Amino acid sequence: MAEKNLLDEITDCLKDELLREPRAAVPDPVLRDFYTDYPRPPKKEAAQPSAAVREQVPEKPRTVPGTEEKKVSPPPPAERVLFSDPAASMGWEELAQTVAECRKCRLCETRTNTVFGEGDTRAPLLFFGEGPGADEDMQGRPFVGRAGELLTRMINAMQFQRSEVYIANTVKCRPPGNRNPEPDETEACRPYAERQIELLSPEVIVVLGAVPFRFLFPNVYGGIRSQRGRWMEYRGIRVMPTYHPAYLLRNPAAKADVWKDLQEVMAVFGKKRVPGRRA
Ligand code: URA
Repeated sequence: MAEKNLLDEITDCLKDELLREPRAAVPDPVLRDFYTDYPRPPKKEAAQPSAAVREQVPEKPRTVPGTEEKKVSPPPPAERVLFSDPAASMGWEELAQTVAECRKCRLCETRTNTVFGEGDTRAPLLFFGEGPGADEDMQGRPFVGRAGELLTRMINAMQFQRSEVYIANTVKCRPPGNRNPEPDETEACRPYAERQIELLSPEVIVVLGAVPFRFLFPNVYGGIRSQRGRWMEYRGIRVMPTYHPAYLLRNPAAKADVWKDLQEVMAVFGKKRVPGRRA
């Protein structure tokens, strides 16, 4: 209990400091907007499970402690030639069309729309989420619900516009009831997400939450709680894992951690960061 109070205190201090001292070149209102805990709108359908339910079931370790994999190297060329999926050689248009027609897993039975991804296909920054929720399924666009609104505020706080980055998900169809996607569903979508990353070839990927983290780093010991905020590498691309916006809606205190992670990313792009961030 004492430990929890201390953590809360540290988080509050960080939050206060960030809000009081506009040392970053982030316009104050933008940062305040990110930190504001907007009230939840009244529920339309009483039976709908909350989007937040999807986040952060603590993960079981997959490898023995101490054997963490720091870098994931690309598979050797021969392996790619022998086992590559047709998606591996597609351009953006063909890939989007293939996803729109995909029936490789059960999620196609319940979806309204596929959600391919959106943004600048030459963007240096990719936000990589989990999968569409109800709003995304309806609109065919990623991150347009409540979590999406918060993601937009995160992007703005980083001094980017949504249109300047790319936003994609691990799976392209909504898992019913906003459950986490099953492993066979993420694997069915793997060639699409991998090809998107390859075509985009961003400088940085911000990984949002446990599902995309495990998807990109299946052999890394520890989950998003222990790995967030640590630079990683996926096929030569720098990766910053952080919490999913839906998790932040349930745990606003974790915004201070996410803001630290996002400032690391901002620094890569020469955007001003708040001094005093731990090394
Ligand atoms: N959560 C995600 O992970 N992706 C979306 O597109 C929306 C919510």
